[in-house]
Amino acid sequence: METPFTDNYDMNFLLDTMMGPNAMRITEELASFLPLSPGMRILDLGCGKGISSILLAEKYDVSVFAADLWIEPTENAVRFTRLGLDAKIIPISVDATKEIPFAHEYFDMIVSVDSYQYYGDNETMLPKLLPFLKKGGIMAVAVPGFTKDFSAETIPRELQPYWAPNWHFYSRSWWQSLWSKEPGIAMMECREMDCCIQAWEDWLKSPNPYAREDIPMMEAGGWKYFNLVQLVGRRV
Ligand SMILES: C[S@@+](CC[C@H](N)C(=O)[O-])C[C@H]1O[C@@H](n2cnc3c(N)ncnc32)[C@H](O)[C@@H]1O
Repeated sequence: METPFTDNYDMNFLLDTMMGPNAMRITEELASFLPLSPGMRILDLGCGKGISSILLAEKYDVSVFAADLWIEPTENAVRFTRLGLDAKIIPISVDATKEIPFAHEYFDMIVSVDSYQYYGDNETMLPKLLPFLKKGGIMAVAVPGFTKDFSAETIPRELQPYWAPNWHFYSRSWWQSLWSKEPGIAMMECREMDCCIQAWEDWLKSPNPYAREDIPMMEAGGWKYFNLVQLVGRRV
C-alpha cells in the first residue's frame, strides 16, 4: 500500500502547525472519500494554520480558500508563500457565525476539519452554508467527538477533571440525526474515522502548550471515549 502523503510530510512543520489532532492526517482520510479533481474550488472552513488546505492543494491540485477566525490571514499567507502555494491557497478571515463573504454556488466543496463543532452543532449552520456550494457540490466535515453521548452528569470519571462544555463533542449518531433533518443535503457518509488514535498521537508530540495539557487527559483514559466523526453530503 502507498505511504500516506502525511507520513512523507515534514513532521516538524506539522507538529509546529497543528492545533489539535493532526489535521493533515484527518484531511487525508476524509479526502479519500471525496470526488476531488484538479482545479476544483474548495472552501476550507476553520482551517486554523492551514495544514488541511496544504494537503488539498498539494495532493489534489485544487484551489483552496483557507478561511479561519482565530488565525490571521497574514500569518497563513506567509506560510503558504514559503511553501510555494500562494497561487493555490487564498487565506481569508471568516467568522462562520457572521455573514459569509462569498458568492452563492461558488464552491465545488466545503471542507471543515476539527472546527465545525464550534459553530455547526445546531440546525441553522448547514442551511446557511449550503447556498455557497454549487448544486451537487459536496459538504465534508470531520469533527472530534465521543464514542457515545455524555451529559455533564454522565461524563466518565477519568475525563471529569478535563471536560468542558466548549469542547462540543458529540457521537456519530448525534451528528447523523442533526444532518438528516436538513432537506437540502443528501447524506453520503457518516462514519467514525480510522485515523483517530494516530491523529491524537501526532498531536501529543506537538510542542503546542495545549497538546502538553492534553497528555494527562489521554493518559487518564481519554483514548477510550474519543472518536473522529466524518460527515459527507451532497447539496441537492
Ligand atoms: C481546534 S482549531 C483547529 C484548526 C485546524 N482546522 C486544525 O485542525 O489544525 C479550531 C479552529 O476553528 C476555527 N473556528 C472556530 N470558530 C469559528 C468560526 N465561528 N468561524 C470560522 N472558524 C472558526 C478557529 O479559528 C480554529 O482555527
